[in-house]
Amino acid sequence: MGKQQHIVVLSGAGVSAESGIQTFRDGDGLWENHNVHDVATPEAWQRDPELVLRFYNERRQQIRKAAPNAAHKAIAHLEDGFKVTVITQNIDDLHERGGSSEVLHLHGEIGKARSTLDDRLVINLGQSDIYPGDLCDKGSQLRPHIVWFGEDVPMYPIAHEITQTADLVIVVGTSLQVQPASFLASAAPYHVARIVVDPKASADTPAFYLRDAAGVAMPVLVDYLLENGIED
Ligand code: APR
Repeated sequence: MGKQQHIVVLSGAGVSAESGIQTFRDGDGLWENHNVHDVATPEAWQRDPELVLRFYNERRQQIRKAAPNAAHKAIAHLEDGFKVTVITQNIDDLHERGGSSEVLHLHGEIGKARSTLDDRLVINLGQSDIYPGDLCDKGSQLRPHIVWFGEDVPMYPIAHEITQTADLVIVVGTSLQVQPASFLASAAPYHVARIVVDPKASADTPAFYLRDAAGVAMPVLVDYLLENGIED
């Protein structure tokens, strides 16, 4: 048998929508009733850390109660026939809980906290949340392990490198409006096919478009790929 083919799945908020987690740009421009600039920027953290912590604590509690949906499970099922890397913009852990083994979080993970002094000091929160006065080993306030607007995306270079080795790219549930994540959709070599799963996808780049909910389209697509492989 030859080398296993590599599928890169680029996912966004739409893949978790059917698990009850609100997307960013489908509604009224507010995110769980907050303007993102009030809760998801370094300036917000400087201005009102308590509000930021409370906001993420609520999101974390909501995510803990959510369950992976048919799309997360189908993506994990792809591993029965392919090497699969999931590159997600989501901060939830639903891909992992759905069974995926290689998940790279471009925008961080809500289940982790990190030091405000040293980015490398990251801890797993388990069932805990973060409160004012919770300190890292070096004595500084803990913050959510999230990439906020205006911050660097440290995982981007590795995500780009991985995407360049793809034999197929599946883009699911992302509006591709946030950079640099959006660049990944075209990072694979030109001959590599791209499949976009999104009910509202706009056909502005060459791809196969499946305009349906991820929980409906992904299981069908995955069954097809496991049965037929990736055609050259
Ligand atoms: N199945 C598939 N796609 C869906 C579904 C569904 N059930 N429901 C909605 N979508 C699609 C929408 O049509 C939209 O194109 O998911 C996409 C969600 O887009 P956004 O809300 O912009 O989310 P995302 O692309 O992940 O946002 C990127 O922006 O706010 C920041 O850091 C945050 O990671 C986030 C980034």
